[in-house]
Amino acid sequence: MKTINIDLGDRSYPIYVGDQLIDNPTILLNHIHTHTVVVVTNTTVAPLYLDTVTQSLGDNTHIIPIILPDGEQYKNTETLNTIYEVLLKNKCDREVMLIALGGGVIGDITGFAAASFMRGVKFIQIPTTLLSQVDSSVGGKTGINHALGKNMIGAFYQPQCVIADVGLLKTLPDRELSAGLAEVIKYGLIRDAAFFVWLEKTMPSLINKDPSTLIEAVIRSCENKADVVAQDEFESSKGIRATLNLGHTFGHAIEHAMGYGNWLHGEAVAAGTIIASQVAVAQNRLSEAELRRIIDLHAAFNLPIAGPKNMTMATYIKHMSHDKKVLAGKIRFIIPTGIGSAIVTDDVTESVLEPILGAR
Ligand SMILES: NC(=O)c1ccc[n+]([C@@H]2O[C@H](COP(=O)([O-])OP(=O)(O)OC[C@H]3O[C@@H](n4cnc5c(N)ncnc54)[C@H](O)[C@@H]3O)[C@@H](O)[C@H]2O)c1
Ligand SMILES: [Zn+2]
Repeated sequence: MKTINIDLGDRSYPIYVGDQLIDNPTILLNHIHTHTVVVVTNTTVAPLYLDTVTQSLGDNTHIIPIILPDGEQYKNTETLNTIYEVLLKNKCDREVMLIALGGGVIGDITGFAAASFMRGVKFIQIPTTLLSQVDSSVGGKTGINHALGKNMIGAFYQPQCVIADVGLLKTLPDRELSAGLAEVIKYGLIRDAAFFVWLEKTMPSLINKDPSTLIEAVIRSCENKADVVAQDEFESSKGIRATLNLGHTFGHAIEHAMGYGNWLHGEAVAAGTIIASQVAVAQNRLSEAELRRIIDLHAAFNLPIAGPKNMTMATYIKHMSHDKKVLAGKIRFIIPTGIGSAIVTDDVTESVLEPILGAR
């Protein structure tokens, strides 16, 4: 097992990465100093892993499971209320500890419930998808969707620890694995050229879920994210954290326009990353050869390399204007400037976008 520390002063916490970690009670129990633990999970993950987590928590812990319906469309106020209701009906107080057992949807909503219930209670993340292990469980962004925009309601709130157990990925559908790989590629592309090259080489082992390759990919992704988050915890307007949103400005527009859940988050990010890279080529910030490598790596991971066929530039602009990355009315874009570097800019004109977005 490898431990990566997220260095945030008194909000610092460890990420444990390894295989078969949830079977080991010591890791979990080291972070639990309370009697009542509420495990939030969903109808897909509960039958797979809830028993193992319950067993690891042992007989001395009072465990309250909350099994939510599965899907991005449930990452909303109604589901959040369900969690508050269970907590209140069970007379939970500020000592209660929440555990998020699931993918990014469960992690985001449980984290926000923990941030807001009684003005903040402790929580642990046990991410069960690749995407949540390399991205959403790390860095403290929590929240829910609103009908008018994704992740619009939320808080920065750090967990006590993250347990990233790649053994849990054995049951993950291939499509979800690929979606997670989109965020993995992102770290290589924005700041870690050597990691990008490593991904190009190890791609077949990753697709086949080889545990040691997955562990390495999760470690290097978390190290990159930890480094960025430690420098810019609250995503300041000019800060480095914004670069983690590569592919997300276009990606969120795709997700929102297509309806949450139809395009997976990682798939939308993949298409968004290709679009951002095409913009970079049009602005002479990236070479055609680099764009080719970016497209090839996404394609090798079975990810989309273009946005939805029927989506027009007007639809992109409409949805991008709702994005949180809009600053003073200007849409901010994250544009790669090579393999291993990216910039944040609002200097992307419609004349640059039109041939890329309007051509479809
Ligand atoms: N907080 C952040 O910083 C951050 C970053 C990136 C994404 N996100 C959010 O994360 C969400 C996407 O997360 P996701 O991709 O994990 O999706 P998800 O949580 O919807 O999980 C994907 C699917 O896999 C199933 N699943 C989960 N673990 C499984 C397992 N081990 N075996 C079999 N099936 C399993 C889930 O039930 C679900 O059907 C989005 O809501 C996105 O906004 C947040
Ligand atoms: Zn993302």
